[in-house]
This record gives sequence, C-alpha cells and structure tokens, in this order.
Amino acid sequence: MSKQPMRPVPMRLGLFLQGAGHHVAGWRHPEAESGGENLPLLRRIAATAEAGKFDLLFLADGLTTGADAHPSTIARIEPLVLLSALAMVTRQIGLAATASTTYSEPFHVARVFASLDHVSGGRAAWNAVTTSYARSAANFSRGEHPAHDERYAIAEEFLQVVRGLWDSFDDGAIIQDKASGHFIRPGALRTLDHAGRYFSVKGPLNVSRPPQGHPVVIQAGSSAPGQRLAARTADMVFTAQQTLEEGRAFTQGLKQQARAFGRDPDHLLVLPGVCPVIGGTEAEARALYAELQGGIDPAAAIRLLSDRLGHDISGFDLDGPLPDLPESDQLQSRARLLTDLARTQNLTLRELYYLVAGARGHRIVWGRPEQIADALESWFRAGAADGFNIMPPFFPTQFERFVEDVLPILRRRGLARTDYDGPTLRENLGLPRPANAFSRQAAAE
Ligand SMILES: Cc1cc2nc3c(=O)[nH]c(=O)nc-3n(C[C@H](O)[C@H](O)[C@H](O)COP(=O)(O)O)c2cc1C
Repeated sequence: MSKQPMRPVPMRLGLFLQGAGHHVAGWRHPEAESGGENLPLLRRIAATAEAGKFDLLFLADGLTTGADAHPSTIARIEPLVLLSALAMVTRQIGLAATASTTYSEPFHVARVFASLDHVSGGRAAWNAVTTSYARSAANFSRGEHPAHDERYAIAEEFLQVVRGLWDSFDDGAIIQDKASGHFIRPGALRTLDHAGRYFSVKGPLNVSRPPQGHPVVIQAGSSAPGQRLAARTADMVFTAQQTLEEGRAFTQGLKQQARAFGRDPDHLLVLPGVCPVIGGTEAEARALYAELQGGIDPAAAIRLLSDRLGHDISGFDLDGPLPDLPESDQLQSRARLLTDLARTQNLTLRELYYLVAGARGHRIVWGRPEQIADALESWFRAGAADGFNIMPPFFPTQFERFVEDVLPILRRRGLARTDYDGPTLRENLGLPRPANAFSRQAAAE
C-alpha cells in the first residue's frame, strides 16, 4: 500500500448490527443465520466483535415496518433493551443505539442513555437521528411529519436539553454520608428549567451523572443542517459515502466546520458505512457478490430505492435514466448521493436500484481479505474516514471472516487496535470526558 506516514491512532471500527445482514438478500445465503430477535445469535456476534476489539456495536433503528421492508428491519428487539442485555455479556465494547429526536421526549432519551451508561460501566452511545420516513408520524398520533429543516431545528434544542439533563448532578454527588445525614452532597443536584421553542423541561434527571459524563453522541444525517448539528455537538458522525474523493471532502469539510465552532477536529470522528463481501480469492468474492445480487427481489429493490430517493419510482421506465426529481424531504443527503452516482456512472434506474438494494447506498467492497484491507486503508490514510461502520452482508460467517482474515492484516499494518485502551467508550475513542456545564458555571460565579 501507500508510503504515506501512518496516522497515529487506530482506525475506529463499529459493527452495524443488523440481524438479517446488511445486504437485502443476504439472509437467503445458505450460510446466513438471521434474526433481529435471535438473542443467542446476537450474543455470539457481540462476542466476536469484542474479541476483534471493535470500538462499538451500532444499532440503527426505525419506527415503522411492513412486510416489504428490509428484512433486518421487519422485526427486531428495541435497541436499548437489546444493548442492556448485551451489556451483561460483554465487558469493553461500546454500545450505540439509535433514538429519534422527532419522536421522543428529551427526558426519556436522557434517562435511558444515562441508565445504559451506568449499566455498562461507561460504554453507551446515542445515535441521534431526526427520522427520515414520513410514515413514522402515523405511529405517534401525529398528523404530520415535520419538514426536513424543522426536524433539525427540533434536534438542536433536543440535544441541548439532553446534555443539560445529563449535567443535573455533579460528578460524585451521591455521598450517602450516614453521619451527616446527607444522601446527596448539598447543592450537587439542580433543575434545568429549560423553556424553549419546542421543549419545556424542568429537570433534574432522576439518574445521576453518567460515568462518561455524557454518553458518546453520534449523528447520522449528512445534509447541510445535519452537518452543522454534528459539527457543533456530536462526537461521531455515521455517513454514507461512495468514492474516496467524496469521503475526503465530506470528512475534511465537517472537521473544518467543527474547527469553526472552536472544537478540536480530532474530537469529531467520521465513520462511513462499508459493506465488505469477502472471499478466499477474488473470484470467490466476485461470485459471492453476484450470488447476493441475484437474490434481490426487484419489487423490494424498487421500494428501497424509492425510500432512499424520497419518491416512488415504480412508474418510470426501469431501463431509462433516473428522471429529474424534486428535492426530497426525507433523506436529502442520500438522495443527492444516489442522483450523483446515477448521473456520473450513466446508470439506468434498474442498475441503480440493484446497487442501492445491495447496501442501501453505502459503499460495497468485494475481494480477498487483502483487497478489503487495502480498500479501508486507502480511505483512512487519505483522511476520508477516521474508521468505518462495518456492515456485513450477512451473519455470522461474513462477519467472522472480517474478524479472522481482514483484521489481522490491518493489525500487521499498524492500522487496527490490538487491545482496548480503557473501560469506557470515550477512552477507547480518544474523546475527552465533557465537563459539567453547571459545575463549571458555578465555579466561575
Ligand atoms: C448514514 C445515515 C444513517 C441513518 N440512520 C438512521 C436510523 O437508523 N434511523 C432513522 O430514523 N434515521 C436514520 N437516518 C436519517 C437521518 O436521521 C435523517 O432523518 C435523514 O437522513 C435526513 O437527514 P439528511 O438529509 O441530513 O441526511 C440516517 C441517515 C444517514 C445519512
């Protein structure tokens, strides 16, 4: 590989844990075992990820389903419940769950993630999403899904409230001093008294300050308002990028924005998703990829692409080019990425939907273990990523191949960690523990 100087930190690795695999037809492979509700399997995958020293297990989440949804999203255990169970059978791996800022209350979110951080000894992360699909509104007694930019305005305030609630207690506030009769140190717990445009939250939170100060905050959403939110407040960004140039522009642009907000750009980690299809030889990997693509149901693929573009494409000529569509209110960044891909590669609608159905717009790499390692290394060294969210096409064997065959190559190249740095996710990711905003304010007064 390249002779560029090695980056001083290891590649950060998340495992995108989708019970039926990431490829829409992955579950049909003879080796695949599936199930978003198959706890023994999920436990085995978590153990493999921890043995491979992955930084975190990452659970995406949605709030609607249907028989024609992606098989990994049809039926699955609620993420916080699943991660609480997995916290009991793992010791060091980070535990990231998705929760929506559009369809939750800040008090609930602050409470459950603070609780997961306590339960896991400082390994919790919250993937804050604004929820793309308008049909989610129908499950929450809401007439309408808020518009794209308003969802981000809500998210800004939501995050501010959650962080404020996590600071309700000073660190070490619960002293249980039997002699003085003070269960909690006097003055160490206070209300938030937030009254904003969208939320009114008195506080305090009824969970003490999380071991990490604040659980790691991940942001997924790559449009301009999504990037602004991340640059200001997130510790990590999960994104979909197709080419090294786009990945580099996105990652460096985001770090530049973080710098403009007065932040250390190394404290905003960018992890694009990658779906590695691994074979013992290049020919074997190509055959496996072809087999997976051959299993795609065209109707499901059209639905997936329609979702990603934010428009129903079923009525268009599948062997013609992608039509000009108005800007989507759902997933703006993904719709733009797919439109660019179709235009630059001259893809027909059919070719585009096969590409998207494979990995839902995330980058697919197929090859021998060395080729997979090369594909990750080139992005990492070029500053196109701080690491990757690994999205195996199916479980468990494709993921086991990654851990057994690809990771040792990355380790030999000095790119992947050989052990955890500490007990908390923040320590392993090289992220600082946030100071308590209230304590800091009180000290200054
Ligand atoms: C890589 C990525 C992952 C996402 N994961 C989720 C998810 O798990 N659940 C969800 O409801 N929305 C998810 N979203 C949707 C975003 O939260 C947001 O609602 C949507 O992308 C619109 O924002 P954007 O136009 O800024 O990308 C994801 C978006 C991206 C880009």
